[in-house]
Amino acid sequence: MDMKHLIPIFVIFFFFMSTTSASVALAPSSSDTQSFSFSKLEGDQTFSILPTDVDPKLQKICGETDYPIECLTTTVPFLDENGAIIPVSILKVEIDAIHNKTKEAIDKAYEFSMNPSTSRLLPLCLKTCINNYNAIVESKQRIVDAISIGDANELSMELSHNMEHVFACEDEFKEAKIKSPIAELNSLLVKIITNSLTICVDMIKF
Ligand SMILES: *[C@@H]1O[C@H](CO)[C@@H](O)[C@H](O)[C@H]1NC(C)=O
Repeated sequence: MDMKHLIPIFVIFFFFMSTTSASVALAPSSSDTQSFSFSKLEGDQTFSILPTDVDPKLQKICGETDYPIECLTTTVPFLDENGAIIPVSILKVEIDAIHNKTKEAIDKAYEFSMNPSTSRLLPLCLKTCINNYNAIVESKQRIVDAISIGDANELSMELSHNMEHVFACEDEFKEAKIKSPIAELNSLLVKIITNSLTICVDMIKF
């Protein structure tokens, strides 16, 4: 099957998703948005591992994403102290986070394929995942270039394609009826990629 046919559907889908979340976040004033995202944070256990003095600008950007907690946990430790906290700088950190988490997933997948397996299908699933992860790693430079020349279309295409790669990896396990050993990392990857798409489509004026 030609995966390229799926990309436009994904882009439209995420356009829709992000527009919906943006309209919710926009009503009725920006101060409401902030208190909304803050109360969302307080209710989560992950809050305790976050620094208590999260920059309000970062809180606002992450508060407008679908997964604010993941947005904060994957960016806060890596922010340049003197750098401006604007959507494009957060996007760049998220792109690094996608890259790092994908490499972590490759290591995990190799580890699991070395272990004596209960299913002969597991190594085959993992092989597909490793190929898909490698494609994500290879897309990084194209993403960085798209950001630097302000090519929003290319950027959403690449991010959507990366999302498909992660879903396709999980589908391998589903089809083989094996519990995915990398479900948690894949879920985190999907969340960071979704957040990156929202930042890229809704917040950056290219
Ligand atoms: C990604 O990994 C590199 C190298 O280990 C590190 O310098 C960088 O801070 C990490 N960035 C993120 C966002 O995880």
